Amino acid sequence: MKKIEVRGLKKKFIERRNRMRFRGQCEHREDCLVLNDLNFSIDQGSFTCFVGPSGCGKSTLLKILAGFETVTQGQVLIDGKDVRCPSERHVFIFQEDGLFPWLTAWQNVAIGARHIHDPEKKRHEIEEHLELVGLTGFEEHYPHELSGGMKRRAEVARALIMEPEILFMDEPFGALDFVTRLQMREEMVNVHSMYDMTILFITHDIDEALQLGDQVIVLSDRPAKIKADLKLGSPHPRDLSTGRIGELRKEIYYQMGLHPAL
Ligand SMILES: Nc1ncnc2c1ncn2[C@@H]1O[C@H](COP(=O)(O)OP(=O)(O)O)[C@@H](O)[C@H]1O
Ligand SMILES: [Mg+2]
Repeated sequence: MKKIEVRGLKKKFIERRNRMRFRGQCEHREDCLVLNDLNFSIDQGSFTCFVGPSGCGKSTLLKILAGFETVTQGQVLIDGKDVRCPSERHVFIFQEDGLFPWLTAWQNVAIGARHIHDPEKKRHEIEEHLELVGLTGFEEHYPHELSGGMKRRAEVARALIMEPEILFMDEPFGALDFVTRLQMREEMVNVHSMYDMTILFITHDIDEALQLGDQVIVLSDRPAKIKADLKLGSPHPRDLSTGRIGELRKEIYYQMGLHPAL
């Protein structure tokens, strides 16, 4: 079943000075076309990764799908309906730190559990989710007392406790060191196997996309067009260097104008 359908999506940002001076004349030459006629669909419960060069429009695309940005032209359908605004069942983990610095890990996760009214059930759920992401023992720590990986884990716990239908993640592990990033990828594979949710994940790391995605959508430079829309269908664990995944890896490098071997 299709969860998300995107048809003829275009997004243009109108330069603010032009907007004031040429009100209503959207075609002014300095307007910035970011997304150029994107067409794709995403299956219910799948893990889709978007890769593309910096500044090509990845975050813009995700914000449109999550209902934070409007489209200039085209259609974005979730469950067959136009996306008009954000939904509490569509949870977004941003690129930047998203924890409240004045709240402990426990209190941050509790923010996501506001829909649970029974105090005992709420306590149990928070405990379970903190355990799931390996933060047992750090409940009373504030964000500045947690490592980068732990902060991201707390954000994942806060998102999961909201029981999202769709989880949007915008380069969530970009700022982490290499080893922590690998650990987080493994945890995302586990989380996805445990929850019935559709995950949309932006990365500029080709290997990350290949390790995580059921589907990988490769975007071009701005204005972004789809260069490749690949269905992986490979079980985990995945070896990136051989077989079909190895071939797809070469293909993505090629599509992005890169060489896998230097
Ligand atoms: N709100 C905005 N107003 C004007 N331009 C924007 C806005 N948001 C993003 N852009 C521009 O759109 C382009 C794509 O940005 P973004 O989607 O953040 O790229 P990516 O996430 O791929 O690095 C950039 O050139 C950026 O300057
Ligand atoms: Mg971005």
